[in-house]
Amino acid sequence: MFNIKSFKYYFSEEQINRITNKITTILSQQDFLTMGKNCSDLEKRFSESNKSPYVLTTSSGTSALELVLSAVNIEKHDVLLPSNTFVATASAIIRSGGTPVYVDCDTDLNLSFEDLRLKITPKTKAVIIVHIGGYITPQIQKIQAWCKENKVLLIEDAAHAIGSHAYSTNAGNFGDAATFSLFTTKVLTAGEGGLVTTKHESLYNKMSILRNHGQAQDNIVPLRGSNWRMHEFNAILAIEQLSTLKDNIKHRKRIALIYDQYINQLSNFKIKRLQISSVSQSNLYKYIILLPDSELIPILIETLHKNYNIASAGRVYPIPIHLQEGYFEKICLPATERYCQEHFCLPIYMNMSVEEAHYTGQALVKELTQLLSSKE
Ligand SMILES: Cc1ncc(COP(=O)(O)O)c(C=O)c1O
Repeated sequence: MFNIKSFKYYFSEEQINRITNKITTILSQQDFLTMGKNCSDLEKRFSESNKSPYVLTTSSGTSALELVLSAVNIEKHDVLLPSNTFVATASAIIRSGGTPVYVDCDTDLNLSFEDLRLKITPKTKAVIIVHIGGYITPQIQKIQAWCKENKVLLIEDAAHAIGSHAYSTNAGNFGDAATFSLFTTKVLTAGEGGLVTTKHESLYNKMSILRNHGQAQDNIVPLRGSNWRMHEFNAILAIEQLSTLKDNIKHRKRIALIYDQYINQLSNFKIKRLQISSVSQSNLYKYIILLPDSELIPILIETLHKNYNIASAGRVYPIPIHLQEGYFEKICLPATERYCQEHFCLPIYMNMSVEEAHYTGQALVKELTQLLSSKE
């Protein structure tokens, strides 16, 4: 029997040797361990490969968000964001002195442009858009134009979306600034880490200072910042991952096409893959299925695990932020509340074999057919 994990990262033997050699060199030469030449190298390489004019490394995706939000100064202002996101998007706003205002989602789980337009007030300073599961909303150009027209900043929380693109523009290049996460589960991982991109030179200069406690030089502190610096070891891992990002996404697409064949067999049960217009090319961080019978999801997860050794890739977010105890708000976001429940993800990763993908697809079709037929 196969052993399918919920996610896996991949480094080739050659990469592991290169990483080991670089770390050995740093330690034996007692080189600087933070924000040294590997962090600069990563910034340069990502700037080139993503076509982003300015790039900064950070210690995590959360610190990348905090860095951007403190640089644009949202204190005493509202920031519009989807409630269908990870808690870090909201916590970074609160820590930066702003107020999160939650927006509903569309049928594609991404921010609803319609609801966004209803939520703007004179207190709104910025919109944070989250490319859920790696999918950039096809509405992105309209949202960009609307933000410009209303003099509101557009920030992309592209934690999921490294390597995704839409309308020939890469994730990270739509907004005034964007943030990426390099957490262990992400398409490009460094264990922990983050990246910030921006097209504005002045914002980049400000963030360069803020990231290192607001110091312009050693102990010269013109701004109030914090420690949002990346470790050299994380940068070494990220450089290797960046070199295989295209192959990684290509392989995920291969796996997704296999899954598509199986999901098509379930169309009679109103089960389908999350549809995104072809203008938006996801990095396939998540392969998302819409399953209206949401009470079946926990049963399915347990059966796949027990009978097939297939770990669940779960839901992207089963509970939206406004319904989390620590962030509870008495508001109603009907689409968000519905789709957080009614979706489910299949495991997908760079070194998943074609046989493993067929095995997972077959198990899914068999178990869902049985579960749904017994309900009829
Ligand atoms: C949408 C989103 N934003 C922000 C973050 C925070 O990133 P990190 O875990 O690297 O701090 C995550 C992490 O998973 C995320 O999914």
